[in-house]
Amino acid sequence: MNNVKFLSGENIPLEMHKVRMVQKVNLVPVEDRLNAMHEAGFNTFLLQNRDVFMDMLTDSGVNAMSQNQYAAMMQADDSYAGSETYYRLEAVLQDIFGMKYFLPAHQGRACENIIAQTLVKPGMVTIMNYHFTTTKAHITLNGGTVEEILTDEGFKIQSDAPFKGDIDIDKLKEAINRNGKDNIAFVRIEAGTNLIGGQPVSMKNMREVSKVCRDEGLRLVFDASLLGDNLYFIKVRDPEYKFVSIKAITQEIASLMDVVYFSARKLGSARGGGILVNDEELMLKMRELVPLYEGFLTYGGMSVREMEALAVGLQETMDFDVINQTPIIVEALCNELLKNNVPVVTPPGGLGCHVDAMQFCDHIPQSQYPAGALAASIFIASGVRCMERGTMSEQRNEDGSERLAEMELARIAVPRRVFTLSQVKYTADRLTWLYKNRHLIGGLEFVEEPKMLRFFFGRLKPIGNWPEQLAAQFRKDYGDSL
Ligand code: F0G
Repeated sequence: MNNVKFLSGENIPLEMHKVRMVQKVNLVPVEDRLNAMHEAGFNTFLLQNRDVFMDMLTDSGVNAMSQNQYAAMMQADDSYAGSETYYRLEAVLQDIFGMKYFLPAHQGRACENIIAQTLVKPGMVTIMNYHFTTTKAHITLNGGTVEEILTDEGFKIQSDAPFKGDIDIDKLKEAINRNGKDNIAFVRIEAGTNLIGGQPVSMKNMREVSKVCRDEGLRLVFDASLLGDNLYFIKVRDPEYKFVSIKAITQEIASLMDVVYFSARKLGSARGGGILVNDEELMLKMRELVPLYEGFLTYGGMSVREMEALAVGLQETMDFDVINQTPIIVEALCNELLKNNVPVVTPPGGLGCHVDAMQFCDHIPQSQYPAGALAASIFIASGVRCMERGTMSEQRNEDGSERLAEMELARIAVPRRVFTLSQVKYTADRLTWLYKNRHLIGGLEFVEEPKMLRFFFGRLKPIGNWPEQLAAQFRKDYGDSL
């Protein structure tokens, strides 16, 4: 949905910025893309950018920065302790979120390390709408476990529900009763919810979860990494908030939480991270870990230039025409794909367009990583680098058996204000071709499998010579086109 209507009635996402600095990209022929995929062990994380046309792996640390963000970088105060930059960033965060204390960290997972080390004791449970890979890894590393209490609707690939990231309140109450509140480290809301397709959480749900936690004396932790997208969805999908400012929505959310943390590689379009908290005692406990893992308190592992860019980026996040840019492009890409019957997660979320590999590659067993195979095929067909978000992104069970993911998604991320509509149309074209030729895609198996977060460095090989057949079909259908 966009504020600007077209005479034709067409729903066209309109860019609310102009491009004044560019980076050239290359599109190499399909044969070279095939070779690059072999060299990368069929893992899109291991591709080299020189072989990539559109890098849609993630929206993390790759968002376009504004001229005001770049300008702010020039006035950073580079000192080990007492940096003015820190106090400027702290003031912006306090103003936007209305919370008392700010602890800096070098990125989102560093915040998760500090929070998990402080709050998770061996045997404790954490309860959340849905896990993120690094969140779960830090919790399990500290001896805890994760319980997910997403509403059933959230697991449906195609749905009309506007807030699929919502927590099921009955499941929350049941989990608290079953585990006993002394065994629960914290309750966590991730908004937007990354691994189920960047789906938002409603304000109503946050209010309800907060009430249950406050009644039970449980800490509520909020992962605000994808908050920009979530704010947009609250504004356009919840009539109660149509006329409420983005900043007022942000403050209402923060007032419901005990701890707010974020990856500034997403929120604020810079690079870094931070934790916000009101409770002084908790802040002091967490603060001890900042110099140990991150750096002194007034930079926390971040470059002061990034901190300045972040301070401006956070203020710009309060602008509807800034935060709407990724969701409207995601929606356009999803709609173009749906028109051609390509199965994607609906309603469109934030972060990116999520293609359902379970339907797309219904001939590939989950143990052969259909989402990984689809991500590799998308690269061969288009030079677009996307990310597997399925069984490969899971950790094996203790006994070595596979933990099959609830969803097998190929995530085509839409970095903020980076790609144009014609590039998005190109992506849709190649995916539509791939869908018509989906029977050619085969499975993958690991040849090198790290024990932890295996999707980052793991190497795989195709089962059979399907990538060669796929590339040959591309050549046949597209002639001499790149
Ligand atoms: N929480 C959420 C919801 C995230 O999406 C991420 C990162 C993190 C925490 C960790 O933050 O990367 O700064 O350490 N998501 C990236 C992605 C990596 O591609 O989805 P980080």
